[in-house]
Amino acid sequence: MTSIEPTGLSLEQKASLLSGRDFWHTEAIEVAGIPSILLSDGPHGLRRQDNAADNLGVHDSVSATCFPPSVAVGSSWDPEVAARVGAAIGREARAAGVSVVLGPGVNIKRSPLCGRNFEYYSEDPLLSGALAVAYVRAMQAEGAGASVKHFAANNQETDRMRVSVEVDERTLHEIYLPAFERVVTEAHPATVMCSYNRVNGVYASQNRRLLTDVLRDEWGFDGLVVSDWGAVNDRVPALTAGLDLEMPGTGGSGDAEIVAAVRSGELDEAVVDRSVRRVLALAGRALPPSGDVDPDEQHRVAKEVAAGCAVLLKNDRDTLPLTTRSAVAVIGEFAANPRFQGGGSSHVNPTRVDTALDAIRELGESVTYASGLADNAVEVAREADVAVVFAGLSERDESEGFDRDTIGLPAAQVELIKAVAAASTRTVVVLSHGGVVSLEGWHDDVDSILDGWLLGQAGGRALADLLFGVTNPSGHLAESIPLRLQDNPSYLNFPGESGHVRYGEGVMVGYRYYETAEVAVRYPFGHGLSYTTFETAGLTVTATGDDSATVAVTVTNTGTRAGKHVVQVYVATNAAPVRTPARELRAFAKISLEPGETRRVELTLDRRSFAWYDVELSRWVVSPGDYTVQIGRSAAHIVAEALVTLAGDVIIPVLSIDSTVEEWFGHPIVGPELGELLAGQSDRAESSADWMRMVASMPMRQFTKLMAYRGVSLPTDALPRLIELSKG
Ligand code: BGC
Repeated sequence: MTSIEPTGLSLEQKASLLSGRDFWHTEAIEVAGIPSILLSDGPHGLRRQDNAADNLGVHDSVSATCFPPSVAVGSSWDPEVAARVGAAIGREARAAGVSVVLGPGVNIKRSPLCGRNFEYYSEDPLLSGALAVAYVRAMQAEGAGASVKHFAANNQETDRMRVSVEVDERTLHEIYLPAFERVVTEAHPATVMCSYNRVNGVYASQNRRLLTDVLRDEWGFDGLVVSDWGAVNDRVPALTAGLDLEMPGTGGSGDAEIVAAVRSGELDEAVVDRSVRRVLALAGRALPPSGDVDPDEQHRVAKEVAAGCAVLLKNDRDTLPLTTRSAVAVIGEFAANPRFQGGGSSHVNPTRVDTALDAIRELGESVTYASGLADNAVEVAREADVAVVFAGLSERDESEGFDRDTIGLPAAQVELIKAVAAASTRTVVVLSHGGVVSLEGWHDDVDSILDGWLLGQAGGRALADLLFGVTNPSGHLAESIPLRLQDNPSYLNFPGESGHVRYGEGVMVGYRYYETAEVAVRYPFGHGLSYTTFETAGLTVTATGDDSATVAVTVTNTGTRAGKHVVQVYVATNAAPVRTPARELRAFAKISLEPGETRRVELTLDRRSFAWYDVELSRWVVSPGDYTVQIGRSAAHIVAEALVTLAGDVIIPVLSIDSTVEEWFGHPIVGPELGELLAGQSDRAESSADWMRMVASMPMRQFTKLMAYRGVSLPTDALPRLIELSKG
């Protein structure tokens, strides 16, 4: 990347660089040798538009490979899958002359109803962050820049351009920011895209705290901040807050506001220069279209990664894999006309589309097909050894721009599944959808459920391979499947009202809530079956100083097929003085094992794995105490655990007159002296455990008055002196 200084440019020229030339390009100043660059969506394939431009996927785009959307990549639990997708899109971007790909999206799935959940990885920040790091590194290694979006707390589509997310600092730091933090600090994306919404009343595009204090000062981001398309409300405050580039272009109105603000003295020209420098650094990425991509090869990658994403939720009576000799009835429109991506700005015009029906016909010796409802479907199901029903949501049901209001499958599909299951010997359901769908009302009627989520243009073939066991399923849920929508912790606070959405569930998002409140789910976060079996043994946890630890565990493939297993490491603790979830995912690794193979897997738990965000100190804190490190088959099914004790941070609080009696007496320096000062003055009742329990939460200000009524007093200078002493 070359860096060009803004010297020699007029104020007007500099301001012009801070917004787009058009919908997808930045401004060029040819006389100064500053090229324009092209940005395109993102995240699971290129959406380069040569003609009519839009950001809702209404107008067409040049054909490109449609890889599995992030919902599927999330379910792979495999950074290698994310990296292969990032690299493959990076290659297409280079070939097409696209300098920045608008992705990945790393927003947390707070509610299953969010219309864009298909574009996001997970309800868990660690999983989201790890996959995004792999994607961005691999994409940028191919020469294309990434744009990590939508920063921040953009977790719904309803009122997305105005809604104010009311979220407390601890929740923001522990749930909604870590995936961004990780990708920024570990993968150094070329750009970060701010979101449309407001965060605690301030538009993300004008949010100095987010765009400068957190992103640049705390995390060291040195790339460019671009607006989501149309997210700038007030150009000058946005620029001052840290929003460098406004997209798309506004015909020069934002630039004129910047020029006027500098001329009137309201805006320091140095602020303009700072953002111009970042635009120039980005312009250094401008590269002519180069390199060829082979669409067949890209399609092959799309198929291979898709096969690692689907989740086998249920497999009673070993119904799957199908044998080539079974008589198979394939049922459902999605088998012949697949649903494989979502609607909106990420919509890719695929180079080709594989159907599961064609691929099943190639693999099976006896295959019949009924496209859908009622009689015909039941008839073919009755004649077959096994019926495979393709069900799910259509693109009309979920998209950017709106949220769903139900997690139910369309009633007609539920009826179809139940009718087929009643008639057939064995029933398999294959699901295609972007957001969680309820399995209730039909789950117990069927033998197997293979959840494909959205698998991209080669998903049909990947599904057929999984059904016949050509590939062994290895996906795991990146989000919980609840029994009822009402069980979701955001239920009462989604999508908000009167312009505000209150994140009242705090850090208890997804499985963090279900496990803490012991609310049953249909399938927990992390769940996923395989055609082979794995055993976990020999867990050891070793503290490595600095409040970190290493975890080692031995995994054996005890079945007869090669397969992939995800080691999921959770941490559970009551050490912190705040309410923490029952357990939290803190490390994971996906490994491949041949039948009978055993491997020792070692993972690191860094300090952050044990920390919580202290809003009073504005920093991460590890509380001294015991931590249980757990290996889970899912967030709900723990197979091994071991305790580690950490020294943690010794925090000596500074006392004030409003600190509580408990804080005063419990203070390591001041407490004993205070006790001595009062000794002998108070009667026995006043030092009893019951009395202390009642006054423990009383501020010292009130406590001293209460004691004075009872004739107990401290020397007048005692409290100010002790407060000074507490400062250490
Ligand atoms: C979306 C972004 C997208 C942009 C450009 C917006 O509507 O929120 O994710 O990158 O359009 O298409």
